[in-house]
Amino acid sequence: MAKRMGVLALAMGVLALAGCGQQARTPTINESMTQVMQPEAQTIWDVTSRAFNDKGDGLDAARISPTDWIRLAKAGRKMRDRAHILAVAATKVEVRRIEDKILGEDAAHGGVRQTWDAASPKQIKAYIDANPAVFAERARVLEQAGADLLKAAHTKDIGTVYRVSSGMDEVCDGCHEKFWGTDEPPPFQAGPEARDKGRWIKAS
Ligand code: HEC
Repeated sequence: MAKRMGVLALAMGVLALAGCGQQARTPTINESMTQVMQPEAQTIWDVTSRAFNDKGDGLDAARISPTDWIRLAKAGRKMRDRAHILAVAATKVEVRRIEDKILGEDAAHGGVRQTWDAASPKQIKAYIDANPAVFAERARVLEQAGADLLKAAHTKDIGTVYRVSSGMDEVCDGCHEKFWGTDEPPPFQAGPEARDKGRWIKAS
């Protein structure tokens, strides 16, 4: 019996490994930005912008609903975990899947229109390869912000929620300036698709 269980456990282990093998692809930077960083940052901004005190110089914990505390915790956890992957993978992480376009790519320097001064996917990859330690360090700053937010959401530590949410833009830009070559979305002439995507940058 024990032996059969052992074989079964082994077989299940092999199956689990095979399953992992299929999913082991590290998410690209572009996927991480569009599927995690952008929506989670938006959640944080949405929740905190509703929670400003009457003076407007800080947040009021009473204005964050139980559901919104959970949303903050989840946003912190997702950002922390994905930033951790980016930090660890650094040079191994791809900028995008070949079928994905990055924001402003056509307009970027090295892109088709060249109306916008940001890096092309190839340049981004080169910047990271030349300086993986700085890329990892910038990702870790975001990882820490996510971890702080998660903890603060559990303890309802409104001061930390305020610090993380008001500093978030800077944390994002700290990496964008260096590795995307910009902290702004491309101008309108970059095309309707990029223009729609460009809305991410403003909290309001
Ligand atoms: C460790 C580096 C790093 C951090 C930290 C980072 N980003 Fe990015 N981000 C990049 C790079 C590199 C690009 C350019 C490639 C691209 O556009 O996908 C990018 C591009 C983007 C884009 C454009 C995606 C597109 O459609 O092409 C958005 C939106 C974005 N980031 C949001 C954020 C937000 C919000 C944060 C902070 C919560 C953040 N990023 C933090 C590296 C980072």
